[in-house]
Amino acid sequence: IGEVEDIQELRRARPTAVPERYVRDTNERPALSTILPSLHVPVIDLSKLVWGTKRQGQEEMAKLTAACEEWGFFQVINHGIEKELLETMERVAKEFFMLPLEEKEKYPMAPGTIQGYGHAFVFSEDQKLDWCNMLALGVEPAFIRKPHLWPTNPANLSYTLEKYSKSIRRLCQILLIFISRSLGLSPNYFNEMFGEAVQAVRMNYYPPCSRPDLVLGLSPHSDGSALTVLQQDTASVGLQILKDNAWVPVHPIADALVINIGDTIEVLTNGRYRSVEHRAITNKETDRLSVVTFYAPSYDVELGPVPELVNDQQPCRYRRFNHGEYSRHYVTNKLQGKKTLEFAK
Ligand code: SIN
Ligand code: FE2
Repeated sequence: IGEVEDIQELRRARPTAVPERYVRDTNERPALSTILPSLHVPVIDLSKLVWGTKRQGQEEMAKLTAACEEWGFFQVINHGIEKELLETMERVAKEFFMLPLEEKEKYPMAPGTIQGYGHAFVFSEDQKLDWCNMLALGVEPAFIRKPHLWPTNPANLSYTLEKYSKSIRRLCQILLIFISRSLGLSPNYFNEMFGEAVQAVRMNYYPPCSRPDLVLGLSPHSDGSALTVLQQDTASVGLQILKDNAWVPVHPIADALVINIGDTIEVLTNGRYRSVEHRAITNKETDRLSVVTFYAPSYDVELGPVPELVNDQQPCRYRRFNHGEYSRHYVTNKLQGKKTLEFAK
């Protein structure tokens, strides 16, 4: 696939250049798509679900159910993760991307793999590239870790990521309790089924771009996970989700986390909760950082619609398959809308 030029270096050398490999075909250009900036994804107050009165709990549960059914995305506030931890995670991630290229290249993402610094999901010379640099790391279970790819610079990145991941893991488990209940399943249904859940993190750094109308920060895709937890900086709006054929921006809310349903939950719920296509756009003035956690069942878990959610009105829409197999399928294909989920049909 040849060398992929580093866009931070490119911008330093030629600030207004946009190489051909980044220029999207017209049908994918952000400037030519329908964007609905006045719609807002639902906001869920987790403290009301956990600690609220019965009435508050019921109201929030109704909001959560609607968010999962109609949006596949929501923002969660009062999630219990310390503001300071979120800020530190954002700061060390940004510090990493600001390091000289030689330093970042000590943790190279080898072609065809998805851990380390570089470009994931690039498989051919003619494939359009995303205006984004990534650092991706497997976190749990321990056997997926590649310790030599965990940066030692900035010095506190690894420690912070470890602490951050523990908090996010707990949050995912709590969310899965409420998601199970919202489907009429026993509270620990998904947590028990998932076993020793897989958790990976990807930090995305989007430099400004002189032609945001022509490029994409990240190609449209759905996530292969069960749940994704996204922390985004508040300096700009970059994430957009596809709703009824229009793109809806996810406006950052300070200290909130963005949650989305991944392919795994779509399959398990027999399509009742859908994994929604999303993308990232760039802008001329500001860079943007997101820290994304993917939370998924253990690789040995067999996926397929849970029997309780299949009936005469809702006939089975997906086949049964092994999660590890799906995971391999997902990471060996380019990001392209919901195409990877055809695997489950
Ligand atoms: C992602 O979908 O993995 C990240 C999107 C974003 O940076 O907002
Ligand atoms: Fe995503």
